[in-house]
Amino acid sequence: MTRHRTQVCIIGSGPSGLLLGQLLHNAGIDAVILDRVGREYILARIRAGVLETGTADLLETAGVGERMRREGLVHDGFEIAHGDALHRIDLKTLTGGRTVLVYGQTEVTRDLMDKRAASGATTIYDAGDVEPHDFEGSSPFVTYVKDGVSHRVDCDFIAGCDGFHGVSRSSVPDRAISTFEKVYPFGWLGVLTDRPPIRDELVYASHPHGFALCSMRSATRSRYYIQCDVNDRVENWSDDQFWAELRQRLPVKIAENLKTGPSIEKSIAPLRSFVSEPMRFGRMFTVGDAAHIVPPTGAKGLNLAASDVHYLFDGLREYYAETSSAGIDAYSGRALARVWNGIRFSWSMTRMLHRFPDDDPFDQRIQATELGHMLSSKNAQASLAENYVGLPY
Ligand code: APR
Ligand code: PHB
Repeated sequence: MTRHRTQVCIIGSGPSGLLLGQLLHNAGIDAVILDRVGREYILARIRAGVLETGTADLLETAGVGERMRREGLVHDGFEIAHGDALHRIDLKTLTGGRTVLVYGQTEVTRDLMDKRAASGATTIYDAGDVEPHDFEGSSPFVTYVKDGVSHRVDCDFIAGCDGFHGVSRSSVPDRAISTFEKVYPFGWLGVLTDRPPIRDELVYASHPHGFALCSMRSATRSRYYIQCDVNDRVENWSDDQFWAELRQRLPVKIAENLKTGPSIEKSIAPLRSFVSEPMRFGRMFTVGDAAHIVPPTGAKGLNLAASDVHYLFDGLREYYAETSSAGIDAYSGRALARVWNGIRFSWSMTRMLHRFPDDDPFDQRIQATELGHMLSSKNAQASLAENYVGLPY
């Protein structure tokens, strides 16, 4: 077994691990990143693409904002479609000037990977059997296997940035962790296509057949979703069937502008809300999807990962620069307070806009009333907008 020492061993090279790694590197704190898969595999994942200002600022602070500022699309609002009506949520006016940036998570990850490669910091891809050890004691370490050789990384702290199915959270004994979960009775069928977007802004649609979303990646690439059965399969949907169903769920006047093309990616994602508490176990922290999952409806997944990274980096920087544990001691509480706001918001947006197969007539009336109130009340819209652009850190 080879032995290596670092200050922070980061498990997972998704956006959480890479962003934390970059901030630590810039602050002169040594970190190794381990991932069980390779760079290309990670970059093949397609996920939401709406960045809160705080997320964009943090990426900029990390030194990876250049392409994002150049290619990202600033959005001052989005639209909610209901039947044939279209209502604009004017984010900028409702929040006193705040906006969001539409820039794909895949691009964020690519920028972070390129920056890390250029900085010369160590990332081990295709690391097998990654396991955190002794994080409840004072000398934690992580073991892994690479090309048949066993390795051990000794460290001060372990950052579990290894996503929902990662090994960090599952290494914690059940008695030390509380989990909260809601699994929704539907999924999202998503299609990516090299065609211009249907509208200048995102459209969230509520329709008796189910929810639909028109999003984009650039002026020439669009991302669309329709609510589907949770057990449905991609093979059941030809491109033509997808476009026909999407068109039906949109107001006629905008459906006419739908530019269809061959799908370059098509996948079904289940919807889930999940939180595990706390987010610190001795010298190991959980970050991002390793600690919590939101349904994609409010596009909060990456943004919550970014706020976790912000709080954890703050704590680690303070620990190394000022030998104070105050920041790392506060990490779990600070991160979770913001996470629960994101969980509540994503749940409420999901609840308002999807068709729930088990809703009884009472539930249906409540849902219709909720949406009607949202579309007619500036106060309700202000709350929606405040959450959509992102609550302050
Ligand atoms: N050992 C090593 N690496 C692992 C292991 C393991 N046992 N399990 C998972 N990983 C790696 C995965 O291969 C992946 O690259 O951890 C990484 C986790 O990345 P993400 O799942 O992207 O999680 P995170 O970085 O927290 O990103 C949060 O992703 O799912 C979206 O909506 C979410 O946008 C948010 C963002
Ligand atoms: C996306 O572009 O993939 C996207 C945008 C907004 C959402 C969810 C997904 O709320």
